[in-house]
Amino acid sequence: MRRVALLGATGSIGRQAIDVVAAHPELELCAMQSGSTPLDALASEHGVEHAQVGGDAVELLERCEPDVVLNAIVGFAGVGATLWALDHGVTLALANKESLVAAGELAVAARRRGEGLLLPVDSEHSALWQCLEGRAPATVAGLVLTASGGPFRGRARAELADVTPAEALAHPTWNMGPKITVDSATLANKGLELIEARWLFDVPYDRIEVVVHPTSVVHALVRFRDGALLAHVGLPDMRVPISFALTFPDRAATDVPQLDLAGLDLSFEAPDTDAFPMLALARAAGERGGTAPCAFNAANEVAVAAFLEGRIGFLDVAAVVEETLARVDGAAARDLDDLVAADAEARRLAARGLQPA
Ligand SMILES: NC(=O)c1ccc[n+]([C@@H]2O[C@H](COP(=O)([O-])OP(=O)(O)OC[C@H]3O[C@@H](n4cnc5c(N)ncnc54)[C@H](OP(=O)(O)O)[C@@H]3O)[C@@H](O)[C@H]2O)c1
Repeated sequence: MRRVALLGATGSIGRQAIDVVAAHPELELCAMQSGSTPLDALASEHGVEHAQVGGDAVELLERCEPDVVLNAIVGFAGVGATLWALDHGVTLALANKESLVAAGELAVAARRRGEGLLLPVDSEHSALWQCLEGRAPATVAGLVLTASGGPFRGRARAELADVTPAEALAHPTWNMGPKITVDSATLANKGLELIEARWLFDVPYDRIEVVVHPTSVVHALVRFRDGALLAHVGLPDMRVPISFALTFPDRAATDVPQLDLAGLDLSFEAPDTDAFPMLALARAAGERGGTAPCAFNAANEVAVAAFLEGRIGFLDVAAVVEETLARVDGAAARDLDDLVAADAEARRLAARGLQPA
């Protein structure tokens, strides 16, 4: 029996994870957390002993002694749980990419100390992990992340000035929470994933590419030194990577339908970095290192929330992030306190950037 602590239980990933756990008798939910949604009914329906709304996820994890932490909290709020699981050598199934983006160096150090498993749940990284399994690092020439391109793919920059939150929330291929859906529309999500891939697989940025692949059936590819590429292909359904991480290494069955290959659209195109500058901003923040990725993430969270509330336009999201990155010092964080301070400073600067001049 594997005891799973599910953080972010009421979200898009959280709800799908509950279904995955319910389908596997060898998995048991020992704890659930949400940000603010009451959990009493959900916890009693699934016989969960420890349920917590808000508060400190680390306290919950210490109480429930899980075998696996599935971190499906959205945003920087997930960072404490990520570092706790890595430090304690508790298997971490990670959906909360923001924590690895913000705390990359601290997370790598914690993983080394804890010697536990860090299993990606993000579909592209689950795909990369599966393509890389058992390969010697010296044979890997590069990683390729695919992006759907979001609802505004093909539009020029000028055509993006007036798009609404409702339009940004209408994702063509994935059904996800609001923050990641807007991130997909700006391509910030692929920027976060670029940084996430760098920390998960220890591959430098200049060997990680992003291509737009509108049908989202190829989740990622690995380039090998002999010219071969391995791709991970399947229907875009998060239950597959959630199940793979929670049942690793058994690859348990799911009821996700098999992909019909006849007539499959496997087209790829380069991302439009003029219309979607967030990808280049993320790459630059990643290459700059220190707390620059933390600032990228913090400013993006502030700007996306403001966009969803109708306080700024779609193109302002990248402008706020760019301005914030230009103002932060980006000094490396020695510990979680430093990181929390860098996150707060970037949020303060980003919020100032929202004010009308
Ligand atoms: N959705 C996807 O298909 C997908 C795919 C790949 C990666 N991811 C990543 O997975 C994470 C979750 O995404 P999502 O789409 O599931 O988001 P979501 O639907 O917005 O759900 C977020 C969850 O986090 C909880 N939460 C928010 N703030 C919290 C806090 N301060 N402390 C504890 N819990 C908090 C929410 O609780 P309340 O319900 O109470 O607000 C909710 O349960 C994100 O990092 C995202 O990038 C998602």
